[in-house]
Amino acid sequence: KRVAILISGRGSNMVSLIEAARATDYPAEIGLVLSNRPDAAGLTRAREAGIPAHAIDHKAYPDRAAFDAALQQELDAAGIELIVLAGFMRILTDAFVEGWAGRMINIHPSLLPLFKGTHTHERALEAGVRLHGCTVHYVVPELDAGPIVAQAAVPVLPGDDADALAARVIVQEHRLYPAALALIAGGGAVLEGGRVRLGKAER
Ligand code: GRF
Repeated sequence: KRVAILISGRGSNMVSLIEAARATDYPAEIGLVLSNRPDAAGLTRAREAGIPAHAIDHKAYPDRAAFDAALQQELDAAGIELIVLAGFMRILTDAFVEGWAGRMINIHPSLLPLFKGTHTHERALEAGVRLHGCTVHYVVPELDAGPIVAQAAVPVLPGDDADALAARVIVQEHRLYPAALALIAGGGAVLEGGRVRLGKAER
């Protein structure tokens, strides 16, 4: 499967996906990296890894639909079959999301359905949960609400602040996301009637 990774920032998850995809038996090929922010550090890191990486500055477009159309054009031109959101901080239009139904995934830094949205680590500490983590899910129009593909949990430890907790979670993100993408690209997980069915690769 030909994959595009969409980023907005440092791109550490992107790097872990690019590295995993170097393995000859990995079922996905990272063909393109796109950022809505021209200054995203991840763009440089992608180019250093030899992946075509372009900025599509959302500020240059009059509305979300126009931005998404520009995105779609780049994806089509590169023959992309699967979109992976990795720290992509831009809301996509319902039309775009529906056009990629079952073919677009995201990673979220919490154990969904807990702590949708931003500042997840602060909110996990505030709530006093003893387990926290990350979730890979299919993207649906409702934010962070799509069918769950895979999760990883970490303990919340005494003395944790948001940075310490985030550091523990990101280690798991870097492990989980390449595994989840392999599952999907290899046909081991599919979206069926709004639910994830785990298939051959899983059991
Ligand atoms: C990750 O924690 C991801 O789960 C969240 O934003 C962060 C992006 O980090 N959505 P990076 O750009 O992959 O380093």
